Amino acid sequence: MSLFKKSEAISIDGPAGSGKSTVSRRVAEKLGFAYIDTGAMYRALTLKVMNEGISFDDEEKITELSHDLDLKLIPTTEGKCTIRVILDGKDVSEAIRELGVTRNVKHVARIASVRKNMVKLQRRMVSNLDGAVMEGRDIGTVVLPGAKYKFYVDASFDERVIRRLKELAAKGKVVTREEVAEDLKQRDHTDKTRKVGPLKKADDAIFVDTTDMTIDEVVDEVVGYMRNSLR
Ligand code: CDP
Repeated sequence: MSLFKKSEAISIDGPAGSGKSTVSRRVAEKLGFAYIDTGAMYRALTLKVMNEGISFDDEEKITELSHDLDLKLIPTTEGKCTIRVILDGKDVSEAIRELGVTRNVKHVARIASVRKNMVKLQRRMVSNLDGAVMEGRDIGTVVLPGAKYKFYVDASFDERVIRRLKELAAKGKVVTREEVAEDLKQRDHTDKTRKVGPLKKADDAIFVDTTDMTIDEVVDEVVGYMRNSLR
């Protein structure tokens, strides 16, 4: 689709279970843009901190790691348009989704100097690309405040719990509804109350409530909105 200038970045923010990742991947696929999952970046750094046995209190060491992070997000055509995450030359795409990483990512994501390095890296990634859909928590507000198209996707809490349960079940993970609800509740809280780069809708972002929408409908709404704004 050559309608949209490839130099124009698209930001998609929202909480866990909002459908953000699937929608971002599908929009990128539809437009022929690259897809950048910034959550995968915070997850990869968290995994590295855990693997190296560094204390989550050691902000200096974690900042150092974030500065020299050897991280690649490689697009792959396996299944859907998705990415492989390569950390220090090793494929950690599955490892970064483990529960231990999910629970600990908040310790890393709250450090201001770490976020500063991550934002720098994320901006560099976009500037080296010919068109990107970047998803996360602070993309429209901090990383790419000048993005031409900004979206904030959300859904009711119950719907997000159901989606996350299905996602985990599809991966063969046995977790209770209560565990998933507790994880989402805690992550919503830490993501929204973090001092630096909290999860927040940018004033100029389009809000999409995906509660009663299928993924196709959300993708159509996002791309449709972009098309209309060209008129
Ligand atoms: O896929 P899911 O919604 O579970 O989370 P994710 O997008 O992989 O992000 C994992 C965690 O990384 C989030 O809960 C945030 O705490 C953090 N994160 C962040 O601080 N800033 C971003 N731009 C993206 C993620």
